[in-house]
Amino acid sequence: MAMKQRLGVNIDHVATLRNARGGAYPDPVRAALMAEAAGADGITAHLREDRRHIRDADIEALMAELTTPLNFEMAATSEMHAIALRLKPHAVCIVPEKREECTTEGGLEVAADQSRLTDFIAPLAQAGCRVSLFVAADERQLEACARVGAAVVELHTGAYSDFHAEGHTQAATDELARITRCAAFADDLDLEVHAGHGLTFDNVAPIAALPQVAELNIGHFLIGEAVFMGLASAIAEMRRLMDDARG
Ligand code: PXP
Repeated sequence: MAMKQRLGVNIDHVATLRNARGGAYPDPVRAALMAEAAGADGITAHLREDRRHIRDADIEALMAELTTPLNFEMAATSEMHAIALRLKPHAVCIVPEKREECTTEGGLEVAADQSRLTDFIAPLAQAGCRVSLFVAADERQLEACARVGAAVVELHTGAYSDFHAEGHTQAATDELARITRCAAFADDLDLEVHAGHGLTFDNVAPIAALPQVAELNIGHFLIGEAVFMGLASAIAEMRRLMDDARG
C-alpha cells in the first residue's frame, strides 16, 4: 500500500464569502479548526497581493491557533517574503499571481527566473520553511525547481480538472499521463511531490492514486460542497476517496 497521503484543506473561499458582505462571518479560522477536527492534515491559505480573500489578520490567527501545519501560499514578492520570514509558517508555497485572474491559472515560471528564485528561497529555507513551487507538469520546470533549492513541488492539476469537467476525456487522459510522468520525475530529483487545483469527488481518484504524491491541497470544491453536506462531511468523503484510491 502507498504511504498515507496528506490532505491540505484550503480555506480561502470561506474568506471570499465573508468578504462578500464585509463582516466577520463566516470566519476562515473557525473553518480551519473544523477542518482539522474533521481530519485535515494541514491548512492552506493564500494571502493574495490584493487581499481579496485571506487577510493578514487571518494568517496571524491561523499561525496562533492551528494544531496542524500551515501551508502559506504567496507570490514571490518582497512584501510576501517579509511576511513569511516574520511568521515562519511550516510551508511556503510560491505561486504565480496576476491581479486580473480569478484563481491561480498557470504554474510558476521557474526555468526562466532561476537566479531570482534561488535568492528568494534560500532565506525562507534557512528560516525553517519548507518551500514549495506550484508548477505545471513539465520536466523542464521540475529540473529548475531542484536547481533553485525547493524542497517540494506542487503539480498544477487545473488543466486536468478542467478537461475532466468539460468532458474532454482524451485531453484529461493526456494531462493525467503528464502528471503521472512528472510525479515520478520529480521524485527522482528528490523533490517531495504535492498536487492540487480544481480537485473534486469526481476527479480526485487518479491523482490520489499516484504513489509519489504525498499531499493534495483542495479548497474551492470542499468549501462549495460544505453548503450542501457540511464541511466535516465533505472533508471525510474526500479523505475516503483518497484512501480508497491508494488501496
Ligand atoms: N494549490 C495551489 C497552489 C493553489 O493555488 C490552489 C488554489 O488556491 C489550490 C491548490 C486549491 O485549488 P482549489 O481551490 O481549486 O481546490
